Amino acid sequence: MNEDIASDVLERYSKVAVIGAGVIGASWTAVFLAHGLSVVVNDPRDDVEAVVHDYIRKATPTLKALGLPTQNLTKKLTFEAELDRAVADVDLVQENGPERVEFKQDLWARIEQHVPSHALLLSSSSAKTATEQSLKMKHPSRLLIGHPFNPPHLIPLVEIVPGERTEPRAVADAVAFYKAIGKVPRVLRKEIQGFVANRLQRAIFRECCHLVLEEGFVANRLQRAIFRECCHLVLEGVVTVDELDDIVTSSIGLRWAADGPFRSFHLGGGPGGFVSFFRQFAPGMEAAWKSQAAVTLDAKSQQTIIDQAQASFAATPPEKLEGERDAKQLAILKALASVKASG
Ligand SMILES: NC(=O)c1ccc[n+]([C@@H]2O[C@H](COP(=O)([O-])OP(=O)(O)OC[C@H]3O[C@@H](n4cnc5c(N)ncnc54)[C@H](O)[C@@H]3O)[C@@H](O)[C@H]2O)c1
Repeated sequence: MNEDIASDVLERYSKVAVIGAGVIGASWTAVFLAHGLSVVVNDPRDDVEAVVHDYIRKATPTLKALGLPTQNLTKKLTFEAELDRAVADVDLVQENGPERVEFKQDLWARIEQHVPSHALLLSSSSAKTATEQSLKMKHPSRLLIGHPFNPPHLIPLVEIVPGERTEPRAVADAVAFYKAIGKVPRVLRKEIQGFVANRLQRAIFRECCHLVLEEGFVANRLQRAIFRECCHLVLEGVVTVDELDDIVTSSIGLRWAADGPFRSFHLGGGPGGFVSFFRQFAPGMEAAWKSQAAVTLDAKSQQTIIDQAQASFAATPPEKLEGERDAKQLAILKALASVKASG
């Protein structure tokens, strides 16, 4: 995005409320502050100020390495324990509270009574759709999912998923906002539980747990598990093959080149590691595993995938694609080796 457009967009969203400042909210706070936005944090925990300041201090070297200004980072940071007051004068709300649908429904119903009508309402939820979160709202036209990856200050992808009552204008505004803060926003074509990248993670994590608990050949089983979900998402029309590849390379591909699924999810649980991660996400994950739809690779399904691949990358000569692939893999290997050598 060109710099003038980005600064216009950031001016429109210069005041942000971060609701819930745990693993994800604290990281979003750091990103927003590094882009010069004013951030008011709302979280009932007693130690919220210490937790957020500590998180920002730890994230500062990474923000700096990303080329972001980090001087006086907390100058525009405030805390407001009263929700009504926290959202009363903001242009954008980024919600990062507990992953419970009733919590989010009550929260948005209350927020809409106090937030300015132009404000963009974004939820970081990993799985609860905007439509279900909005059920107690009167006017959910500005509510949508802006789902990041841990940590949002580093991983580029943000999945944008409008609900049934979200206006198209809000989708365009959310895309512009996340681009202006250097993210890679990708709009999904359909609401689906767990969105795209988490469904892929969930699919592979099921196989990871199975392999740890049982035995088997590893890498191919993992590829097969994720490919099943890739085909499902394309055949359901949630994304195209091209969009799916793009989502993977800007989120979990990047993540797994650095850390595998177990170490990544341990970090996703915050200071509580896997104990917190399982407390928050295991019920949803297990329910999703049990309700996995059958994926049929019949002739029609195969043709859908072949046609989409042809319209995108498959028309390029394989030698060219292989050359690009090798160059990218080498660059990643080199980057990882340099981090290991310096650590
Ligand atoms: N952890 C991840 O890897 C990850 C990744 C992407 C998205 N998410 C999503 O982000 C959201 C937050 O997840 P997390 O991992 O940061 O959880 P977390 O438990 O680390 O943080 C949740 C925060 O919400 C606060 N909170 C509780 N009640 C509140 C209230 N009434 N008002 C405001 N704040 C309240 C808690 O004090 C806590 O600080 C969830 O919806 C989750 O699905 C998580």
